[in-house]
Amino acid sequence: MHSKPIFIKQANQMITMKGSSKQPLTKEKMSELFIIEDGAVWVEEGRIKSAGTTAELEAEYQNRLNEAEIINAKGKILLPGLVDPHTHLVYAGSREEEFNMRLNGATYMEIMNNGGGIHATTSMTRTASEEELVDASLVRLDRFLKHGVTTIEAKSGYGLDWETERKQLTAARKADELHPVEVVRTFMGAHAVPAEYKENPDAFINLVIEEMLPKVAEEKLAEFNDIFCERGVFTPEQSRKLLEAGKKYGLTPKIHADEIEPYEGAELAAEVGAISADHLLRASDKGMEMMAEKGVIGVLLPGTAFFLMAEAARGRRMIDKGVPVALSTDCNPGSSPTCSMPFMMNLACMHMGLTPAEAITAATINAAHAINRAEEVGSIEPGKKADLLLLNVPNYMQMQYHYGMNHTDTVIKNGEVVVKGGSLCYQQ
Ligand code: NIG
Ligand code: FE
Repeated sequence: MHSKPIFIKQANQMITMKGSSKQPLTKEKMSELFIIEDGAVWVEEGRIKSAGTTAELEAEYQNRLNEAEIINAKGKILLPGLVDPHTHLVYAGSREEEFNMRLNGATYMEIMNNGGGIHATTSMTRTASEEELVDASLVRLDRFLKHGVTTIEAKSGYGLDWETERKQLTAARKADELHPVEVVRTFMGAHAVPAEYKENPDAFINLVIEEMLPKVAEEKLAEFNDIFCERGVFTPEQSRKLLEAGKKYGLTPKIHADEIEPYEGAELAAEVGAISADHLLRASDKGMEMMAEKGVIGVLLPGTAFFLMAEAARGRRMIDKGVPVALSTDCNPGSSPTCSMPFMMNLACMHMGLTPAEAITAATINAAHAINRAEEVGSIEPGKKADLLLLNVPNYMQMQYHYGMNHTDTVIKNGEVVVKGGSLCYQQ
C-alpha cells in the first residue's frame, strides 16, 4: 500500500503542462509550459491531489501538513516524470565492435547486410533465457529511472521468430511488474528480414501477419504494432499490409520511417492512421504536412543521428508545419545505446532547432500521447499519476544549458520516492 502523503513545496519553477491531456501539443502550444513559481504538489495514494503555489497548498492542507513527508524543492525545478516513447529495451549482448567498425568507415546498413546489426542482436537474443532478458532490462530501467524517466515504451524485434518475439514481450511484461518504471509494449516482429527469409521477405511478412499477430492479440502481449520501413528492409507496401493487418487485431500502428533514406514512410504513417512515425531523419515536406493534417506524432530520436553520425531530423521544420513532436532515446544496442532522455533533449536543442521549452513538451506530454498514456502521465495535474521529477537546476533553461549532465535529484513514481539525491532508493 502507499506510504504517507508527500508534500513537495517551494519549487523554483513547477512545469505543469496543464490542459494537455486530450491532444498532443503543436506549434506555439509546445512552448506553453504553464509554469508556477514557488510551486507545490500534494501527492497521495499514488496520485497528484493538488498542484499550485506553496502558499495555496499550505492553506489547502493546513490541517494535514504534519502527516506528510515534506520535500523542500527550493532552488530546483519540478516537472512531470519524463516519458520515453520508443525503446528496444529487451535484448541480449552488446555491439561495441560494430561501433568501432563504423568509426573506421563501415556504415550501419553495410554491417546489417553482412549479418551484423539487428541480426547479431537477434542471434544473441534467441539464445538468451527469458530470465536473462529480464535481468538485462532491469539494469537498463534503473538507468532510465536515474535520468528521470518514469514511463517507457519497449519493442520486441530481436526474435524475428515467434518464440523469441514472445519471450521478449513477456520479459518486458515481467520487467514492468518488477520495476517502478512503467513499460508499455509494442510488437515489432518485422524489425528485419531474418536470414531464413532473405530471398522471400513477402513470405516473412505473411508469417508475421498470419502466425504472429493473432497470438500477440490473443495473449495481450502488446498495444502497438511497429515495422522498420526502409529501403533494403521492408517496403512501404509491405509495411502498409502489416500495419493494416495489425489494426484488425486492435494493435495501433507505429512505424520506423525515413530513417536512413527518404522512403515515403511519413506519408504512409498518415495514410494508415499511425499514432506516431518515428525517426524521420529523411522525411519529406509532403510527409510532414500529411502527418500534421492527421495529427500523427513525430517521435524524433536525436541520439540515433548523433550515434550514426548522420544529419539530424528536421525537428524545427516539423514543429513549424504543425507536427506534434516527441523525443525518445531509441535505446538499442546498434544505433543508440543510451538511456538518457536529458541528453536527447540537449541534442534536440543543439541539432534539431527545438527550444528548451519545446524539448520539455516533447519529452513529457507529447511523448505520453505517442504511447496513449496522456490521460495518466506527462503533466502535473490533479488526478494524474504522481510521476514527478525534481532537477537540481534553478530554471528549466539550465537543464539544456548545462548539457550532457544528469541533473536528477528526486524521482517520484506512482507517489513513491524512487530516486533520492540522484541515487536509486526504491523497495524491490
Ligand atoms: O530504431 N532502425 C531500426 N531499428 C533500431 C536499431 C536496431 C539495432 O541496430 O539493433 C532503430 O534505430
Ligand atoms: Fe527504433
